[in-house]
Amino acid sequence: MDRLSCFCLFLFLSSLLFSAAVSVSVSDVSFDESEDLLIHQVVSDGDDLLNAEYQFAEFKTKFGKTYATAEEHDHRFNVFKANLRRAKRHQLLDPSAEHGVTQFSDLTPREFRQNYLGLKRLQLPADAQKAPILPTKDLPTDFDWRDHGAVTAVKDQGYCGSCWSFSTIGALEGAHFLATGNLVSLSTQQLLDCDTECDPEEYDACDDGCNGGLMNNAFEYILKAGGVAQEEDYPYTGTDRGLCRFNKTKIAASVANFSVVSLDEDQIAANLVKNGPLAVGINAVFMQTYKSGVSCPYICSSTLDHGVLLVGYGSAGYSPIRFKEKPYWIIKNSWGESWGEQGYYKICRGHNICGVDSMVSTVAAIHTTAL
Ligand SMILES: *[C@@H]1O[C@H](CO)[C@@H](O)[C@H](O)[C@H]1NC(C)=O
Ligand SMILES: *[C@@H]1O[C@H](CO)[C@@H](O)[C@H](O)[C@H]1NC(C)=O
Repeated sequence: MDRLSCFCLFLFLSSLLFSAAVSVSVSDVSFDESEDLLIHQVVSDGDDLLNAEYQFAEFKTKFGKTYATAEEHDHRFNVFKANLRRAKRHQLLDPSAEHGVTQFSDLTPREFRQNYLGLKRLQLPADAQKAPILPTKDLPTDFDWRDHGAVTAVKDQGYCGSCWSFSTIGALEGAHFLATGNLVSLSTQQLLDCDTECDPEEYDACDDGCNGGLMNNAFEYILKAGGVAQEEDYPYTGTDRGLCRFNKTKIAASVANFSVVSLDEDQIAANLVKNGPLAVGINAVFMQTYKSGVSCPYICSSTLDHGVLLVGYGSAGYSPIRFKEKPYWIIKNSWGESWGEQGYYKICRGHNICGVDSMVSTVAAIHTTAL
């Protein structure tokens, strides 16, 4: 609500300025600019179809898309055009990021949600603790775990709602690095095949492979199972729950405990710096069209539908429409390196935007020298 009224106020102010400029006719510049804007919009609407055809051809080449039938092709082209319009809307609502064509531009929002996200909203498992309140006085102004060797290369969940597994494993990879000094890529597939942890109150709400899951449940599974294998020994196939091939002789990392961090940005930052990358839930609606920059949408639902990894923060990403520097979070995603900024996303800090502060978990790894 706060952001929405800010936006309206901004429009109101600029229209005030605009009418003032016209009535005293001092500013031809601002008048011309708005004329230009109108003309530009009309022209680009006329060009839309040609432009969309060109962009669709480029999209198909770039992402190696082929469609089985002419009907499928036409359907995907229509979805693509709708997504071009959505990207334009997202650009208006989120001017400090760049929105446009991504590898998800031929998917409806529903297909995108069902097949590339996968966060289920379940209750906290029994062993989840509350993270103790940490001092926040001496936090660095900028911090990035990638600079300290705690983050593995960006992974790709593929056509599978397994985000929850990547978020969980990312946090454990960081915690394991802090406990042992070794950065080991850990198995997300083990969670898909073996983790069927359920909500303690609703026994039909469980971690369920490509159909979604929850990071806290996955920590609970790892705690009970004794650990996870490394990626090399239990590689990702991106296929739904298969036979569990976990072998206890191949444990590469184990969970000591995991905790939920309070909804407070300073506590989140303090836990990040002290304990390593954090597993967080987020609303991914702007991520379907995101290309780069600091995403800071005026309106974004805080309904969580995606699990990602918070790896750092920055104090100053420029927001053109707000005429000032905005602090932001740095987020590792699991859609490969060709998405976003080499697989990463930046979202502004300060207002729980897209729910980014509302489900944050930290994990500690057992100090082992196994392997
Ligand atoms: C687990 O791994 C060990 C050592 O490689 C092997 O001897 C054992 O047969 C494996 N167990 C299963 C159930 O595959
Ligand atoms: C979690 O485990 C770590 C490592 O064993 C320990 O230092 C920390 O105090 C534990 N945290 C909680 C909240 O129990």
